[in-house]
Amino acid sequence: MRQLLVTSALPYANGHIHIGHLVEYLQTDIWVRFQKMVGNRAIYICADDTHGTAITIRAQAEGRTEEQIIADMSAAHQADFGAFGIEFDHYGSTNSEENLAKCVEIWAALRREDMVEEREIDQLYDTEKHVFLADRFVRGTCPKCQSVDQPGDNCGNCGATYSPNDLINPVSTLSGTTPEIRKAVHLFVQIEKLHAFLDEWTQSGTLPSESANYLKNFFLNEPLRDWDISRPGPYFGFQIPDSPGNFWYVWFDAPIGYIGTTQQWCDANGEKIEDWWKSDQTEVHHFIGKDIQYFHTLFWPAMLKTAGFSLPKQVHIHGFLTVDGEKMSKSRGTFIRASKYLEHLNPEYLRYYYATKLSSRVEDIDLNFEEFVAKVNSDLVGKVINLASRTAKFVQDKGLSKEYPDDGGLFETFSSKGADIAAAYEKGDYGKAMRMIVELADLANPYVESNAPWELRKDESKAQELQDVCTVALNLFRTLVIYLAPVLPGLATKTGELLGEEITSWDQATQPLTGRSIARFQHMMQRVDPRRIEAMVEESKEEAASEIAESPKQDWADSGDALAETPIGDEITIEDFLKPDLRVARIIAANEVPEARKLIQLTLSLGGDETRNVFAGIKSAYEPEELIGRLVVMVANLAPRKMKFGVSEGMIIASGPGGKDIFLLSPDEGAVPGQRVG
Ligand code: 2FM
Ligand code: ZN
Repeated sequence: MRQLLVTSALPYANGHIHIGHLVEYLQTDIWVRFQKMVGNRAIYICADDTHGTAITIRAQAEGRTEEQIIADMSAAHQADFGAFGIEFDHYGSTNSEENLAKCVEIWAALRREDMVEEREIDQLYDTEKHVFLADRFVRGTCPKCQSVDQPGDNCGNCGATYSPNDLINPVSTLSGTTPEIRKAVHLFVQIEKLHAFLDEWTQSGTLPSESANYLKNFFLNEPLRDWDISRPGPYFGFQIPDSPGNFWYVWFDAPIGYIGTTQQWCDANGEKIEDWWKSDQTEVHHFIGKDIQYFHTLFWPAMLKTAGFSLPKQVHIHGFLTVDGEKMSKSRGTFIRASKYLEHLNPEYLRYYYATKLSSRVEDIDLNFEEFVAKVNSDLVGKVINLASRTAKFVQDKGLSKEYPDDGGLFETFSSKGADIAAAYEKGDYGKAMRMIVELADLANPYVESNAPWELRKDESKAQELQDVCTVALNLFRTLVIYLAPVLPGLATKTGELLGEEITSWDQATQPLTGRSIARFQHMMQRVDPRRIEAMVEESKEEAASEIAESPKQDWADSGDALAETPIGDEITIEDFLKPDLRVARIIAANEVPEARKLIQLTLSLGGDETRNVFAGIKSAYEPEELIGRLVVMVANLAPRKMKFGVSEGMIIASGPGGKDIFLLSPDEGAVPGQRVG
């Protein structure tokens, strides 16, 4: 028997659970239920991720305390999870004493091993809101791949992590203003010291191969950046014991929440934490989305290793959910809350549908509503449930035959598939498991069709035959339900009630039930009514629209000063406008010009081998290093101008009065050097 500790990512306490989240919790729940059914000891641990600036902002907006928000949200999350049959062994909170104790323990180990460095750094400060800006409240262009409008910590396009100060053109999402840089002391964990270990660990089969290769190519072939794990107060979180006024960044105490929550479970169940987190006897399995793999595959193992905790045996990584081929969208009504889904549809439909789509690969999965209806109605109801609904009523009085009848080897075939189906579950390849189950159902249905119990019942002399046919059909049905039980616990419960034996173990699929009475047949699952899906989408759309209408308007408060100072110029013709040949260019080199106070010498690429040398008067606002890689707009047909330091072959476009206030214009992501602008 294996001992397994299984987790899903801890959901943020500042928002409700939606159908995108559910991919992961259902995926994990199915795996844990499967493990329990095959006789392994497994505990499923989760908690709300409660700290950070987002909670404070929400609390302020709602005029409540952070504690009130997290209490309400925890109750809402647990109600949603419960309704979807997601069964945690313990659901905690990162804002707990137990979690604080584990943070203190791990922190002490990091200090002891000399992994922590204190440095004064430049941090972005919102001068309008008077706060240092948490990473998520700054957006700008990714310094690595130049993708625009990325969050301050982690690029959604290329996955790079960076400090918000590295963002090109940062903007505070709290006020819409450009933040100012201020000095603050931060604490850094030097994970580069564990480079060799992380290299080995990430490549040792603990991660899906896509992720292992990605880390190897993208991160591990250069030094690992120090990890900034502190934030100056005010900050809703744990204060760092040996650094008063500084708090652990939410991403420090969040994964430790896995351990803190296990501690709570241990306390409630008379278990020892060492047996679960410091023992070779326990396998730790994390289920996460691909957006947070960097935290779980580099920082987290580094912390665990330093503090002597068990390393995850496996990190299972899934992709994102799209709906009908597109990103979930509030305006399209596809950003559907779990609670909204529950108002309209049976949660087991979604459990089954996601199961048919999940594999062990890191790939996005698409919720296609037409396919959703087809899979539930034709496969689940039409092929599986129908086996019972077409036969159970005929043996309501007599029960199942005493001896298991000759079924031409069907039951044997069904039980012999158990090992393959189990292997697919174990690997996370639920789609394959579901396909194998439906293939079995495709063998059972012709048996019922050809033996036509509805005909047999008309002939008294065929009573035994009728009972035998129904006994076979119900046993085949039951075997399918045993195989589906990790996915459809509700159906398994109802089937257990019908046949008088609870479904708890995988091995039950090896023995047919005989000679017992059966309960009155209750409807097991209805077909999906597509109108309910339409209503759900429509209501989600309306609710999103009213949320937007109710949310406080951004106060942009743009003054008219700039226009007043420089009124709009004389009218021109389109021909006049087309005279300057404006082009997209990429800054590929930027150097100071020691003799010139205001100038930076830029090498601009127009694509291919075409480059231009340009002297730009932007030194008062930009450091040369921050310009490299950036796309700008240049006047490419300006006559070359000879200057003291060389020839300037064009001009780049910027706005602003000068000094610190010079703002380069950048095209959006997707523009290509050399492209004409206009
Ligand atoms: O990305 C998120 O939703 C985070 N709240 C996940 C945290 S997982 C763990 F590390 F706590
Ligand atoms: Zn990027």
